[in-house]
Parts: sequence; C-alpha cells; structure tokens
Amino acid sequence: MSTDRYRLGFHIAPKTGWLNDPNGLCQFRGEYHAFFQFNPVWPQIDTKYWRHFTSPDLLHWKDCGTSLVTDIAEDRNGVFSGSALVRHGAASDGGDLLCLYYTGNVVNKDDPEAGIDFVHTGREANEILVTSEDGVHYSEKHVLLRNSDYPDVCTLHVRDPKVWEQDGRLWMLLGARDYSDQGMVLLYGSDDGYTWRIKSQVYSKNPFGYMWECPNIVQIDGHDFLAVCPQGLPDEVDRWQNLWEAGYFPLDGSILDTVLVDENTFVEWDLGYDFYAPQVFVDDKGRTILIGWMGTFEGNRTSTPDGLPWAHCLTVARELSIGENGLLRQYPVTEIEAARGEEIPLHVSRHVAIDEHRGDIVLDGIEGVGALVLDDVLEIAYTGEKLEVSFTDGHVSGGRVDRQVPLSHLENLRVLVDTSAIEIYANSGETVFSTRWFPVSDMFKVEASFKCEKAVMYPMEDAMANAYADSHEM
Ligand code: FRU
Repeated sequence: MSTDRYRLGFHIAPKTGWLNDPNGLCQFRGEYHAFFQFNPVWPQIDTKYWRHFTSPDLLHWKDCGTSLVTDIAEDRNGVFSGSALVRHGAASDGGDLLCLYYTGNVVNKDDPEAGIDFVHTGREANEILVTSEDGVHYSEKHVLLRNSDYPDVCTLHVRDPKVWEQDGRLWMLLGARDYSDQGMVLLYGSDDGYTWRIKSQVYSKNPFGYMWECPNIVQIDGHDFLAVCPQGLPDEVDRWQNLWEAGYFPLDGSILDTVLVDENTFVEWDLGYDFYAPQVFVDDKGRTILIGWMGTFEGNRTSTPDGLPWAHCLTVARELSIGENGLLRQYPVTEIEAARGEEIPLHVSRHVAIDEHRGDIVLDGIEGVGALVLDDVLEIAYTGEKLEVSFTDGHVSGGRVDRQVPLSHLENLRVLVDTSAIEIYANSGETVFSTRWFPVSDMFKVEASFKCEKAVMYPMEDAMANAYADSHEM
C-alpha cells in the first residue's frame, strides 16, 4: 500500500527524514516561523539540524529548507533545540531582528579518559546565538556559554535555551541534570543577549526525574507556569506512560523569584502516545501559542510504520488559556477552521463515511456516557468516570492499546483527524490526547453514540498541498 496516503494536510512534517522537537517558534516580520529538529538521512543516525517552515496563518505552511547546520566545532554533533527571541527595531534597517538561541551538541568519543559515559565525560553542551534580519540569511554563530560556565552541580547535560524578555531584561532557562541525577532548571539573566549571568537554580522539592529537557515559560493573566520535560519518571496507571513526560508546574509567584517547585503539582500537557518537547511563544495578537512534537523516541511503540520516508510531525498550533481549575487549557487556534468543508451532521448510532481521513469532529453539549468510533478501530469513550482512547486493532496502532484518564464530567469533545495524526480535545482542551495512527481502510468512517446538542464533522482540506513545492532536499 502506498504510504503517500499518510501525508498530512494541516500538520507540519518533513517531506523526507526525521522530525523531533519544535524550535524557534515566533512571529517575525509578518510571518509565523516554526523550526524543528531534523535529521535528513534518517533512518541512519546522524546529526540534528534546524529545518524551517513559515506560514501567514498557522495553517498553510511552507517548507523553507534547512536553516541551521553543524558548521563550527562547538555544534559539530548537532544543532540541538532552542528558541527564538524577536528584538523589535534591533536590525540594521530599523526592523525586527530574529535571535535564535540553541545548544551546540558535541560528543567526544575519543575522549582520552577511561569509562566515557557521556554524562560526566565525553560531551559538551554549548549555548549559541545566531541572528537574522530576514529569516533567510544568518549571522556568524556566537558561543555564549560552555560547560565550564555552568554551576558546579551540573553534569555535562545542560541544554535547550528558552529566551524571553521581561522587566527590561533578557532571561534564559536551560534544562539540566545535576551530579545526583536530579532534573533541574538554570535561570540566566542578560542585558544585551550576549553576556549571561546565572540568577538561580530551580529544583523540585523531591527528586523528579534525572534530567529536565526543553524548559519553557508560560505567562498568562499574571500567572507563571514553568514547563519542563522530565526524563526518568516511572510509568503509572493513569499518568507518565510515555518514555519521557512533558508538563508544567503552576508557580506561586514569578519565575524570576522561584527556586523550588512542588513536584506534586506537575501537570502533563497531553496524555496521548505521541507528545513531547512542546514550545510556547506569544504572537502579535497577544495569544500564547503552543506547538509540540507529535512523536516519540520509543522504538517499541512505534509511530512510524515501515516504508514511510519521513518520521513524525508537529501538533497544530494550540492557544493556551487558564481554565476554571487554574490549570492550562489548550485549544486549536481558530485559523485551523478555515480548512473546514461543509458540515456533515452525525446522528446517534448511524455512521458517516467520507473519502479521506481528514476531518474536524465537534461534539457539544454532551450528556452522559457514549463513544466516538473511527474506522471501527479507534474508540474514544466516556464511561462517566474516565475518558478512554483505545485501539481495537494493534495492526494499525503499532501495538498500542489503551490510554485513559479519570474525568468527572464530559461536556464537549473536538477531534482533529489528519490522515495519520489525531488530536483529541476534551472539555475545551482541559484534557488532550495526541497520537499517530495509520488507518488502512479507504473510506473514513465515523460513528458517534453520544447524546449531545451538536454533533458534526467537517471534512478538512489539504492545506499543505503546496507546502513542499519549493523545498530543497536536505
Ligand atoms: C528533546 C531533545 C532535546 C535536544 C533535542 C535533540 O527531545 O532530547 O533535549 O536538544 O531533543 O534532538
């Protein structure tokens, strides 16, 4: 069967090669920019570059090729993850300057020391800045911080700079692993974006994973949330079921005054099989927008079937807001709705089938229990006590079976289906599941057994049809 059918219509994915973390998300000189970790020669293990996509509207994306490659000693084994800071009026033409901060990864396999473990020996993590006035041409690279600059408690694992402006200064978060194998975050401050001084080290009260990757900060309505990706949490029944987790700590005050977080307050962003390393940015409209990596490093619960020439995608852009429970809700930005075709009503226990696996399903005013079943194999069920997402056919799910979360009420459900990517939003995005699936049937069949005020599906257009037209390989 051709794998072409799994190409996505409103999610960012590479034409060929491997994608992981979103990087450098921003709005710059009138366009949205999304970079991501990219390995062009996957499935060979190689290095990581930054691939670049742009969009006028967070829906129609264009592949602009590979922007940052490994070309200095300090990033020779990977242009690893990082963020964008747009400095208004700082470019030579008086316009905005794009500042990309990332980690240069170096692996010293021939380190003369015996017993190289790549944690305490055999590795370098350099924080690097590169700027651009147009998003096409890039400055020379400036190495800002090296391992010798980090606090003594840190192992060689320090990475993924998140830089933002607050109170007239610049701030940088870095994820780190300390000498007692505890995950932590470093906070640095700067006046010019080039010289950085440590401000604080943020720990959890009790150990919470051995390394925190990809830190981020969410600031909405005067509330700060520290996002991290802890590695090493044990799998539990209703939580922490992926290889590594992505979530956030709601803070009591400002991130700038925080040195301790309570690990019991950690909230996972997304309970699906394919979600990690999200980033947030604030756009011109003042919206806080999150995009995550919809994939996993797990080989045994694969989200890339044999023969597919590309691996993984990003989630759609999700607007963040604070819900009634004080936690963050995520909901697809309204721009996504521009891809909707004509509304098709869904009636209880009567199925609807359309030609392509691309739809936006909306169930509002849900009363009681029920289920939404896709292609007879993927069931999203509400039992009155929990929301359960289960595959009844391991063949299409790479051996995946079941995910569930306790839920005391279900008012609405929104499900985005994009050929091989599915995002499920319950209760206006208070609970989210993202997962890849690889349907084998030709028609897309949808059946809803919920009693609700409104139940419809919108077929979705292929908004990525021209995304790769001018794309360069590599
Ligand atoms: C998270 C991560 C980052 C790193 C990048 C390398 O998925 O491990 O910590 O910068 O991926 O691709």
